[in-house]
Amino acid sequence: MERMHYEPDEVVRSGEGQGSSFWQVMERRLSRRGLMKAGVTATVAAAVPGLLRSNPPVVDTGLGFTPIGDAPGTEVVVPEGYTVQPFHRWGDPLFAEAPEFDPDGLSAEAQAVQVGYNCDFVGYFPIEYGTDRSDHGLLVVNHEYVNPEIMFASGKPGDFTRAQIDTLLEAVGVSVAEVKLADSQWSIVKGSKNARYSLTTPFELTGPARGHDWMKTSTSEDGTTSIGTCSNCSAGKTPWGTVLSAEENFQDMFANAASETDPAKAKSHGRYGISTAKSQYGLEQHHDRFDVAKEPNECFHFGWVVEVDPYDPEWTPKKRTALGRFRHEAATTYVAKDGRVVMYSGCDSQFEYVYKFVSAKAFDPTDRIANRDLMDEGTLYVARYNEDGTGEWLPLVQGTGPLTAENGFATQGDVVIDARSAADLLGATKMDRPEDIEVNPANEKVYVVCTNNTSRAKADNPGTDTMNPRPENRHGHIIEVTEAGDDHTATTFSWEMFLVCGDPADESTYFAGYDKTQVSPVSCPDNVCFDRAGNIWIATDGQERSMKRVDGVYVAPVEGPERGKLRPFLAGIVGGECAGPEFTPDETTFFVAIQHPGEGSSVEKPSTRWPDGKGLPRPTVVAIRRKDGGPVGGRPSPDRREFLTGLLGR
Ligand code: FEO
Ligand code: CA
Ligand code: CA
Ligand code: CA
Repeated sequence: MERMHYEPDEVVRSGEGQGSSFWQVMERRLSRRGLMKAGVTATVAAAVPGLLRSNPPVVDTGLGFTPIGDAPGTEVVVPEGYTVQPFHRWGDPLFAEAPEFDPDGLSAEAQAVQVGYNCDFVGYFPIEYGTDRSDHGLLVVNHEYVNPEIMFASGKPGDFTRAQIDTLLEAVGVSVAEVKLADSQWSIVKGSKNARYSLTTPFELTGPARGHDWMKTSTSEDGTTSIGTCSNCSAGKTPWGTVLSAEENFQDMFANAASETDPAKAKSHGRYGISTAKSQYGLEQHHDRFDVAKEPNECFHFGWVVEVDPYDPEWTPKKRTALGRFRHEAATTYVAKDGRVVMYSGCDSQFEYVYKFVSAKAFDPTDRIANRDLMDEGTLYVARYNEDGTGEWLPLVQGTGPLTAENGFATQGDVVIDARSAADLLGATKMDRPEDIEVNPANEKVYVVCTNNTSRAKADNPGTDTMNPRPENRHGHIIEVTEAGDDHTATTFSWEMFLVCGDPADESTYFAGYDKTQVSPVSCPDNVCFDRAGNIWIATDGQERSMKRVDGVYVAPVEGPERGKLRPFLAGIVGGECAGPEFTPDETTFFVAIQHPGEGSSVEKPSTRWPDGKGLPRPTVVAIRRKDGGPVGGRPSPDRREFLTGLLGR
């Protein structure tokens, strides 16, 4: 979700770095790389190991599609030789008893058994766990929020009927759908694993905040359970076959935070931007739990990473509080060399932080079920990036450094509930809205996607630095992080700039050093994924506002001579962002979520009627395939699979 507003009370103001021009900081950064290449001092080089990449390996990127041209935003556009199939639409029935989509008959009952609204994360799981089956699976999709202006013929926020509000509660959350490919067409199967998790589903709270006083509510007197999930933006697939779904802009669901009289809670609400007056949709008009004045602690139940198991719909979903409470964009896991599991997550707001969690115990590939609790025990860190290309992961551990009772952190529960404030005390680096953080399995580097930050260096906000080099950053950038020793549990790292987005004609852009006359404009990167050759696939959110073109998907190699050569692969629908890029294991299908098509228009006059061509626009997951059945993005080469197998087997 694109969040334009800026909450100044969230920022510890600082004049540091103010006034550094983009080129001053980039020159410092780039000249350092030049020095490294020239073989300057081993001491400095040892301090910034990631900069020693003067001889990148020659990599076959396998890319071979014809980049798309301009797109009007009326249909999803893909390269020649490809097909687009919208097949997983808001309102599609998930269960035998579920009614067909009926825009005139929206109801909570129907919505609870249908695909939810505003698809964001998309995760494909082979139907048999542990296989690479690519024609039959479970599709897990996040439904981030709703657009009532293009759902309901009547009503407006604060004035919705109880029935409308109850429909909204069921339209968000997570869906699990069995999906099958036959005759090159995907369809939803009303299978036994299908599930919906919404704002009314019972959850269990686990980890350090379980049972904390601030988690006690009238429906959870001991603070161990919670009702529902919302604002599920992106997510991550775990190695044990579950999904960690990220609760992002939950603050919009709550009202009247100004009524809080406990100073510590009031301070926390301010830091998290909980609405001081009405909520976004007016949920509080019909449900007291969204009114801080009536149910003061309910909002502490949100802003977590939740775990659902698509293979086990009977399993009670969990809110994993050890992973911290903030506006989680995503939750990406990676198994480190020693078997411990690392989770990366960004807090998507202006001047917020990048976090990681390292599990205490190791992943057990032979026991899928035992792994489900790995995210309850371990160490949460927040990132400090240094101007010289190094960085540290600072432990968010009670009793360490300033995280003491005197400073308001008497328990680890206090730390995770108020993770943003704890990170402030540690001096973490304020970033330009960190969205997806993903590990590229081909080179093990971590890609930190900063979508934009139009408030950077504006007025008395924090200024530019080498990590966030552009003032009033409308287009965003992507940073490439190398954990020390390629060990993802490491507490130090090095980093370098990969992309500074925008129109390549704009001198403030940077495409990993690639010839800028040969690359595509791109803006507002959001979710990314990698193909098996390691190319980065970037989905955007906000290009209509920042560069007057519909959002899309772009691809670039990250290694070899074409590193940074960004090309457009897909263009989406007017009003909509592109999200959830995801491949099947054999890469012959590429899924993209077209979220909020037609946003900002109205039921009477929608700006699009995609995908049905009639009625209302419908947020929809599309399947992209090659007409010859080959790997998406790849050359029509019979050798590519063998090459990839060789690469993965190294
Ligand atoms: Fe929901 Fe950060 O995008
Ligand atoms: Ca976004
Ligand atoms: Ca997002
Ligand atoms: Ca992702």
